[in-house]
Amino acid sequence: MERTFMMVKPDGVQRGLIGRIVSRLEDKGFKLIAGKFMQISEAQAKRHYAEHEGKAFFDDLVGFITSGPVFAMVWEGDDIVTLSRMLMGKTQVTEALPGTIRGDFAAHTPFNLIHGSDSPESAAREIANFFDEKELLTYNKSILDWI
Ligand code: PPS
Repeated sequence: MERTFMMVKPDGVQRGLIGRIVSRLEDKGFKLIAGKFMQISEAQAKRHYAEHEGKAFFDDLVGFITSGPVFAMVWEGDDIVTLSRMLMGKTQVTEALPGTIRGDFAAHTPFNLIHGSDSPESAAREIANFFDEKELLTYNKSILDWI
């Protein structure tokens, strides 16, 4: 079973979209194993987006993600990194198709509502930046047997 890190960004929290975004992930059949409503520190944001350090938008990215609370989550499912990024839609909102979270709810690119890991390796690093191992819950979710 693969894991991914996902986060409703400050714009999603401000717009009251946590519930609808979580519902889409639940509807797909993914399993939530951790969730935290939190304010990210600047150091944590810089670690999270370390691969973008040096890019023109890096300071804006850190400023945006630390501008208000986020809802950080860990989800499990087969091929979840690929499948969750399909549900999210493209980063650029002009490319995000209707039916995706960004395609349905986001209208300006930096305010694209949700972050999701782009590989299992990124997921492991991002999960460790936000959660202790003991916060990742193990439990049975029998609906997964039917999907
Ligand atoms: S790149 O250079 O192609 O790797 O970057 P990209 O994948 O398009 O975007 C990486 C993340 O940066 C966010 N982004 C921005 N945030 C704030 N301001 C500006 N101008 C900006 N441009 C891109 C983008 O939403 C991606 O965030 P995550 O959280 O990874 O989806």
